[in-house]
Amino acid sequence: MAYSTEILQCDPSSISFTSCIPEIKSVTTLEAIQRGAKQINECQTVAFPTETVYGLGALALDAVAASRIFSTKGRPPDNPLIVHVSSDAMLNTLLPEGYTISRTYEILIRHFWPGPLTLLFPTNPTLVPSIITANQPTVAVRMPSHPVARALIALADAPIAAPSANSSGRPSPTRAEHVFKDLDGKLGVILDGGPCGVGLESTVIDGLHADGNIRVLRPGGVTVEDLESVLQRELGDSGDVPKVLVHRRDFRDEAIEQAPTTPGMKYRHYSPAVPVILLRTSSPPSDVTPTPIKTFLESLHNRVQGSEGHLKIGLLAPSDSPLPTNFTSSSDFEWQTFPLGPIADPSISAQRLFDGLLTLDAAGVDLILIEEIKEEREGLAVMNRVNKAAGEAIWLGPS
Ligand code: TXA
Ligand code: MG
Repeated sequence: MAYSTEILQCDPSSISFTSCIPEIKSVTTLEAIQRGAKQINECQTVAFPTETVYGLGALALDAVAASRIFSTKGRPPDNPLIVHVSSDAMLNTLLPEGYTISRTYEILIRHFWPGPLTLLFPTNPTLVPSIITANQPTVAVRMPSHPVARALIALADAPIAAPSANSSGRPSPTRAEHVFKDLDGKLGVILDGGPCGVGLESTVIDGLHADGNIRVLRPGGVTVEDLESVLQRELGDSGDVPKVLVHRRDFRDEAIEQAPTTPGMKYRHYSPAVPVILLRTSSPPSDVTPTPIKTFLESLHNRVQGSEGHLKIGLLAPSDSPLPTNFTSSSDFEWQTFPLGPIADPSISAQRLFDGLLTLDAAGVDLILIEEIKEEREGLAVMNRVNKAAGEAIWLGPS
């Protein structure tokens, strides 16, 4: 079905909450969110801003509505969805009867909800459709902090399932216009709440293991350092602080890696239409000889298929990195740089990464180069996405 897609403006600052009930002062914003909520309740999909990325929402507890998310995005049916709630009471309606939330989860919820943290819970299969959980025994839930997202869920008065609002495999949208460009004609309403503050998706956590440790399946908006410091602060005195284990860094699991339930593992992810190369500028492992910058630049023509003519190259790098000046002095190419913010503040790199990939793609570059950043704080999530977006990684040496 073809839709005529409308973008409805919302002013997040006009929305406030008193114990999970939204008060919306701007009439335009109220009407926009009411229209969104009506669409949701009519089993349609609606794109809306969250603090992480734009989401493509539909009723979570209705299998037909949820299936529209998969058809709109072209998402593989075995990739489960995150269910978004606007209150603790709504969370409780999703959980199996008699289930008690663990002390660790209670702490994480108190500190990080509403916010960019997704927690796995045991699912209630009589309530949550199997299309949401991909038949897993768990359901992923988060309470977004973006006022428009929370108000939409509250007005729809129902949990909303929402993956990022992009065609499967593409970078996640951080602005309403990214969604429109990608999904125009495939849904009726896009709520525009301005650019997303976090810029990368939520951190997905499995804290259901018997050892009590928490496993980060996907690094995201809440950093590992923040999780560790909150758990230490709250549980340090008890002498029993759960470990925060990061998938692939601290633990591996063959079963998880084969399963589509591990975020971004099985399917191609975050890739723009053009090739992406990750440039490593840290010291290489002993068995790798770094490529001199000059040699690398000379190789670029061969890396782009059918590029006899002039190449336009996109470069994503920290604002205070010396690399762009080094590169752009090469007049063989037309350069378009997109600064990722200061090296010292990876939260800006997180905010700008997807925007940069989508902006350079739209600008018609032939190739995108991304300089690595340190895998610390938000840098862990940034590099997780960059590694999945890049078809190739190259260690650069001096010129
Ligand atoms: O920030 C976000 O989380 C955004 C916004 C819109 O809220 N949503 C988002 O959804 O990133 P999506 O579908 O793009 O990513 C959700 C990830 C999936 O890769 C999936 O593998 C994982 O969460 N997931 C969902 N349910 C799961 C489950 N039961 N077990 C393990 N992983 C699960
Ligand atoms: Mg996604």
